[in-house]
Amino acid sequence: MSDDTPHTPAHAPAKSHGRKAIRPTFQPRELMTPTPDLVGVWKAKIITLFPTAFPGVLGESLTGKALQQGLWQLETVDLREFGVGKHRNVDDTPAGGGAGMVLRPDVLGDAIEHTMAGVQGQWPIIYLSPRGRPMDQKMMQGLARCDGVTLLCGRFEGVDERVLEHYGIQEVSLGDFVMTGGEIAAQALIDATVRLIPGVLGNQASTEEESFSSGLLEHPQYTRPAEWKGRPIPDVLMSGHHGKVAEWRHEMSEKITRERRPDLWDVHSRKKPD
Ligand SMILES: C[S@@+](CC[C@H](N)C(=O)[O-])C[C@H]1O[C@@H](n2cnc3c(N)ncnc32)[C@H](O)[C@@H]1O
Repeated sequence: MSDDTPHTPAHAPAKSHGRKAIRPTFQPRELMTPTPDLVGVWKAKIITLFPTAFPGVLGESLTGKALQQGLWQLETVDLREFGVGKHRNVDDTPAGGGAGMVLRPDVLGDAIEHTMAGVQGQWPIIYLSPRGRPMDQKMMQGLARCDGVTLLCGRFEGVDERVLEHYGIQEVSLGDFVMTGGEIAAQALIDATVRLIPGVLGNQASTEEESFSSGLLEHPQYTRPAEWKGRPIPDVLMSGHHGKVAEWRHEMSEKITRERRPDLWDVHSRKKPD
C-alpha cells in the first residue's frame, strides 16, 4: 500500500470468519440483497444511520451494472442496531457543553467491531469528516488497490474522538464545507474508487487520460454537431491528424491547469525534465 492509501488499522482481525470462497457471478442480482463475500472482490462496508441511502447514485449506470455483476460489493451496517436502551440511542450531549449531539463511542465501537470481523488484507477504516484529508485521485488509486474499505458516516456534531484514536481511523473530507452527514461523501469516495477497478468502466483507457491521472486537468472535449450555435469544433480535432490532435490536447491540458490550478501546475512543472 502506498503512502497515499489510508492505512489498515492494527485492529483489523487477522483471521477470516466465515469468508466464503465464492467466485464472481455475471448474473444480475438485487443491488442491496445481502450476499456472501466474493473472494478477491473489492468491497465497501458503510456504517450509517441511513442504510437506505445506499446504493443511491452508485446503483446507476456503470457502477450499478458493475455492482450487479459482482465486480465490487457494497454492504451497509445500520448504526441504529447498535444503539443502547429501549430507544436504541446512538448519541449523547457533548462533554463540556455546546450545541448538538455526538455519536457515542460504545455504540460506534460495537458497530465497527461487528463490521471488521472477518475482514482480511488491506482494509482501512475511514471516517468521512470535514476535518479530514481532502479526497484526491491518488487516494482513490490507493484505495482501489486495497481489498476493501470501511466507511463511517457521521451525523450531528460528529463522533467521539476516542473511537478515531482507538481504531486508527483516518479522516477524509469531500471538501472545505460542512454537510449534514457523511453519506454523500462516502458515495463520492466509492464512485471515484470503483471506476478504477478493472472491468468497471467500458473503456479503461479513459481513466488514463482523464483529469489528475497525469497530474494535469483534462483538455476540452467536443462531439457532434460540428457547429452548434455558431461555435465550430476546433479545426485540429476534425483534421484526422492524430499527432496534431494529441499535441493540441496536451497544450490545452497544460493551459487549463496553469490557469485554473496553479497548485497542480507547480507540482507538474517541477516534475517536467525541461
Ligand atoms: C454536521 S457534520 C459535523 C461537523 C463537525 N461538527 C465539524 O465542525 O467538523 C455531520 C457529519 O457530516 C459529515 N460531513 C460533513 N461535512 C463533510 C465533508 N466536507 N466531508 C466529509 N464528511 C462530511 C461527517 O461525517 C460529519 O460527522
